[in-house]
Amino acid sequence: MKQNHPHRTFFNSRANEWDSPGDTDKLIRLKNIFQKLDLNPQGNILDAGAGTGILVPVIYEVTRDPVHLIELDFSEVMLKRSKQKYEGDFHLNLHYINADAQRLPFSNQSFQWIIAFAVLPHVSDKRKVIQEWYRVLASNGTLLILHLMGSKELNQFHSAVGGVIAHDHLPAVSSFAETLQQDGYQINLAIDQKDLYLIHAVKE
Ligand SMILES: C[S@@+](CC[C@H](N)C(=O)[O-])C[C@H]1O[C@@H](n2cnc3c(N)ncnc32)[C@H](O)[C@@H]1O
Repeated sequence: MKQNHPHRTFFNSRANEWDSPGDTDKLIRLKNIFQKLDLNPQGNILDAGAGTGILVPVIYEVTRDPVHLIELDFSEVMLKRSKQKYEGDFHLNLHYINADAQRLPFSNQSFQWIIAFAVLPHVSDKRKVIQEWYRVLASNGTLLILHLMGSKELNQFHSAVGGVIAHDHLPAVSSFAETLQQDGYQINLAIDQKDLYLIHAVKE
């Protein structure tokens, strides 16, 4: 992994202030989405671009079966914050991997689920990353791409923040779903509205 990747430096610099009081509302929204859409992550789950682990309590609440959850991020400071929060929760099968989501240190077909929450715009080569995720997904494994905003709103937000993330672009769901299909995914759900971007895709 490149030591001086500008995005990695950016997220490392934000990690200690990443969690905020607004996260309570985010957690409620996330749990509602999983429950309403009957999303039941199971088996080995990769949380790609996990940050400080906001998905951890969501996944353990909505899942019906024991899972192994791999928290992966290229920002080691984000992962450190996450470890501080969940350390001591011995009932959680949590594992931490500091790596680039575009070059995963896992063998083929390692995961039943990959959840990419709020990470895709920041990945420079989106085609490469979905091919890499396809490689590590088991047959019939699920890829869930999720944002709590639509693509238009998110792209405006990134432009307003500026700096290193100014041009981090989330493609409209229709065009990105097509790209996923070309790379062998079946699309079960594709939503792009003001307050939600969600693609539920299955490796065929
Ligand atoms: C907007 S934050 C979202 C974090 C978390 N999912 C959340 O919603 O709180 C994006 C995260 O993706 C990570 N990230 C961005 N590009 C990455 C890459 N190529 N490989 C691994 N992690 C990456 C960043 O370090 C950051 O923690």
